[in-house]
Amino acid sequence: MRIIAHLDMDAFFAAVEERDNPQFKGLPIVVGAEPQEGKGRGVVSTANYLARSYGIKSATPISTAWRMSQAAQDKGNPPAVFLPVNMARYAEVSRKIMKVIAKYTPLVEQVSVDEAYLDLGVSHEVHEAKDPWAKAAEVAQRLKEEIKQEEDLTASIGIGPNKLVAKLASDLQKPDGLTVIKESEVLPKLGALSIRAIPGVGPKTEEKLGEMGVLTVLDLRALKREELAEKFGKWGEDIWEKAWGRDESPVAEEQAPAKSIGEQETFQTDTLESGPIFARLEELVDRVWKRFKESGFKSFKTITVTVRFEDFETKTRAHTGKTAHKTRGAIKQEALKLILPFLDARENPKGKAIRLLGVRVEKLA
Ligand code: TTP
Ligand code: MG
Repeated sequence: MRIIAHLDMDAFFAAVEERDNPQFKGLPIVVGAEPQEGKGRGVVSTANYLARSYGIKSATPISTAWRMSQAAQDKGNPPAVFLPVNMARYAEVSRKIMKVIAKYTPLVEQVSVDEAYLDLGVSHEVHEAKDPWAKAAEVAQRLKEEIKQEEDLTASIGIGPNKLVAKLASDLQKPDGLTVIKESEVLPKLGALSIRAIPGVGPKTEEKLGEMGVLTVLDLRALKREELAEKFGKWGEDIWEKAWGRDESPVAEEQAPAKSIGEQETFQTDTLESGPIFARLEELVDRVWKRFKESGFKSFKTITVTVRFEDFETKTRAHTGKTAHKTRGAIKQEALKLILPFLDARENPKGKAIRLLGVRVEKLA
């Protein structure tokens, strides 16, 4: 039996800012690019729900958001508070939330900074309950409460027989919602939704389907699978399956973290001069070393250098030590040894200029 939950934090970046800055509590908050009095470039990352009532949302140009805030102010509303994106902070809060989530089931898939799927079917408590769906809802309610208690933030949760339905459900009663869609309710509940609710249906598909008179998920279901396959190929069949609420994809645990750390950079102009090449190498070593130190890994065995020539020919050379390395000096020394032959006839008989350099450490432990 599959019971899947999808959790999505409400107005995540803005909610963290509102919580951390009590002076902004209850005000419309916009997190994103600098507005520069309406002349700013860039877009809104997110807005809290009050700012959304001004028409401001994710991906709104920041200049438009500024005008919307002014228009709201002209009508006697408070102006929006514009704040820069503090990603490190949100990532930290995200980690804490994911830790809370992990207590509720052994199988969790984090899909973004503020979103995760939980396979509740594998949780003992749910699995062994007389009414597993009722128990799943109870567990989800407890999870919401613990996040509120621990982090003073609200989450919306959807529960369904698969990931697709759970995700659609989590969106139905935002913010602070809990929505359960059992197998028997899938067809009626999804039918009324706009086709745009289906993951993978963007504005272009919406337009094309709209021309065919298809506006809702129910309309989409009324089409023949073959018809969609003809018009849109395999992908058309996929969205048709989704219209029926079908999705077999498993909740997958997080991918194993990368076991290598690398940086590369293209030169402004191709070069074979040792000055700029060594300077760039030094810079790449620094960047790799910094990330290595932050990674929590303690040693590496392999150092790799990548060279791409002006004609795009690309070569990689690696050194693997008998024992593990632990220092920035080791990266630099080995990278230098590996790069030198590319500056002369040994690895570069035609004297081609270099377009890109890369440095990588592998076999991390
Ligand atoms: P979402 O979960 O899509 O949005 P949200 O949490 O702000 O609001 P909702 O209550 O509707 O879930 O995205 C999570 C965070 O990702 C969001 O707080 C900011 C960031 N983000 C962007 O930076 N740009 C974007 O276009 C979107 C959609 C999100
Ligand atoms: Mg969210």
